[in-house]
Amino acid sequence: KSLKTSQGIPFDQYLDNGEIAEELNKWLIEVSWEVANKVGGIYTVIRSKVPITKKEYGNNYICLGPYNDSYVKTEVEVSESKNDAIRETVNEMKQHGIHVVTGNWLIEGFPQVVLFDIGSAAHRLDGWKGDFFEHSRIGIPYYDRESNDALLFGFCVFWFLGIFIDKVKQRQKSYVIAHFHEWLTGIGLIMTRLRGYDCALIFTTHATLLGRYLCAGSTDFYNHLPYFNLDKEAGDRQIYHRYCIERAGAWCAHTFTTVSKITGIESQYLLGKTPDMLTPNGLNVQSFAALHEFQNLHAQNKEKLNAFVRGHFYGHYDFDLDKTLYFFIAGRYEFSNKGADMFIESLARLNHMLKASGSDITIVAFLIFPTSTNNFNIESLRGQSVAKMLRDTVQNIQSDIGKRLYEICLKGHLPSAEHILEPTNIIELKKCIYASQRSTLPPICTHNVNDDNRDPILNALRRCHLFNDRYDRVKVIFHPEFLRSTSPLLPLDYEEFVRGCHLGVFPSYYEPWGYTPAECTVMGVPNISTNLSGFGCFLEEHVQEPQTYGIYVVDRRYKSAEESVQQLAQYMYDFSHLTRRQRIMLRNRTERLSELLDWHTLGIYYHRARKMALEKIHPEYEEELLNITNGSVSGASTPVVSRSSTPAPPDNDDSDDDDDHQTPQTFSEQDKLPTSSTNTEQFNRPSFPRPASASHLPLDKQFRQ
Ligand code: UDP
Ligand code: G6P
Ligand code: GLC
Repeated sequence: KSLKTSQGIPFDQYLDNGEIAEELNKWLIEVSWEVANKVGGIYTVIRSKVPITKKEYGNNYICLGPYNDSYVKTEVEVSESKNDAIRETVNEMKQHGIHVVTGNWLIEGFPQVVLFDIGSAAHRLDGWKGDFFEHSRIGIPYYDRESNDALLFGFCVFWFLGIFIDKVKQRQKSYVIAHFHEWLTGIGLIMTRLRGYDCALIFTTHATLLGRYLCAGSTDFYNHLPYFNLDKEAGDRQIYHRYCIERAGAWCAHTFTTVSKITGIESQYLLGKTPDMLTPNGLNVQSFAALHEFQNLHAQNKEKLNAFVRGHFYGHYDFDLDKTLYFFIAGRYEFSNKGADMFIESLARLNHMLKASGSDITIVAFLIFPTSTNNFNIESLRGQSVAKMLRDTVQNIQSDIGKRLYEICLKGHLPSAEHILEPTNIIELKKCIYASQRSTLPPICTHNVNDDNRDPILNALRRCHLFNDRYDRVKVIFHPEFLRSTSPLLPLDYEEFVRGCHLGVFPSYYEPWGYTPAECTVMGVPNISTNLSGFGCFLEEHVQEPQTYGIYVVDRRYKSAEESVQQLAQYMYDFSHLTRRQRIMLRNRTERLSELLDWHTLGIYYHRARKMALEKIHPEYEEELLNITNGSVSGASTPVVSRSSTPAPPDNDDSDDDDDHQTPQTFSEQDKLPTSSTNTEQFNRPSFPRPASASHLPLDKQFRQ
């Protein structure tokens, strides 16, 4: 894909820190429920996109979100806006009793944020509901808390836009673009459009409500996509009004976008609207001074995981950490949508395969899904304290021995064996060893889950007999809380954890994009996704033989569930047979795909979406832009170098950067990475073979990009 805008200007030339935006009085307002308020992947979209957006819009970029006290305390530097239009708009709203907080989000790019405390507008709920119904004919029931919040937030945004647009216009002609994400922001967009404000509107959906709900059940979603009775399905699930907001948001926008082809097709059927273009999700890729820095980070963070595992498996710690691999799955707790069901089933098979083949490899599989708990469980905490006690005792004894040996040597004698360990030392060590015996198995969960006997992960682990027995080659640890570096049990933040692992496994059934495998990729961690996830399809489309880059895509579309489970188990089994050197090489290759996922590459789609929306309400925009860019942006007529979306294929595996600078052993034939392993030969197929049945999706449907 060529990185050029429609005028043939390289995208990078628009990244002028907002000079063009300033000159044109062009503003970008990004509206999301997840601005400075972390829920899931949309937070990552907004947050990671800030630096490149600020490079294009400078201070004419504002993020609007809800006020969430706990996040604001840690993520926002609160201050009065220096911009007159923002400050005056906010003050006007404040005069009417709305609590609005402004400041800067403490992330790279330091963007301005305007956060609405929807609680302070709660008394207007009924009035606004009436207004909304009058304009849109969408009624919101009193019992739906989430929709009520969406309404309050939407009206605050709509109110803000109304005043703000008037104010910026006073100075000179203005171009205001408001980009809304997900149905929760839909009401602001619908009202702005219905009231005919001079504002270009973009709606990006990161999933469809019905899609998420239908997939979470037992529906054969993808084969029935064209045939759902949408109103009935929404009504049955009591989400009819939400579905109407989402659908109206898509239709009222000047540009409607979504994150992947697969969700584009879903939108076409479930929202009755084909996206105007796709806006795939990027990441703010971190570049290191030293090429191998990310490999060192892997080693450092793996050591932290090793420390945890030693404690967790005390008394059963009979496996070799040097031959242990860490796999993980993580995300919001949507058991089947995120493929946790398939992961557990495949782990059980992997366990059997490793045992049957007499393998000496141990797999520790982490499942990170937050759910309601009643704190850490005693056994898990005890494990860490037992390990700490032993470590401290050994350190004390070590220092005792040192002192003794020093004394003896100073006196001119050679110490003998009995000088090394004294009886008291042996007693101390025995005490620790006895304390580290246990009659129970190492826990499969780190916390007391509140709904233990109905929890889907715990039940699946029970059903599959994954109990961390001594003879199991696959051990499991369910951590029902997002990771944080302040945890007394596993003190790592999510990024450190991912870096320490060997393989991320995300066999999702419903995944419009899927940041988790994308984040693994830019951190150089091989990963497994599916051809039902936006990310999996995107990489299959843009990278030839993604498997050779450590990107495994399970076929959940054209295979039966049984075949997909087997394919996943086989991928994990093959991975567990790679040598250390092969794993290092694979990580190097995975990391090479970072550029493809960088906002510097993918940000152009957002740029185009904005331009498309602006031109719908201001057809003269392009001409005015060209008047300015002819002067300030050079190269409008110079040919644009287009870049291949697939990084240069790995030539020889023994290329320099595949070399592990720290691993001295020579490179043997056996170490070479297979382009495709013999066991997975069957998956080397042309992309998207089509089944004979008429019910297949038009996956090759072209969207304007
Ligand atoms: N995540 C996190 N901590 C965790 C697990 C996940 O912060 O322990 C983040 C992860 O970095 C990712 C987001 O949660 O950015 C999940 O996004 P994704 O698109 O994969 O799924 P969503 O939750 O939006 O469906
Ligand atoms: C990185 C480090 C190496 C280390 C290796 C372990 O590449 O730079 O020093 O040997 O990680 O890899 P493994 O896949 O065994 O965790
Ligand atoms: C949604 C989707 C997820 C996507 C994220 C960001 O929450 O579930 O797949 O990555 O939005 O677009």
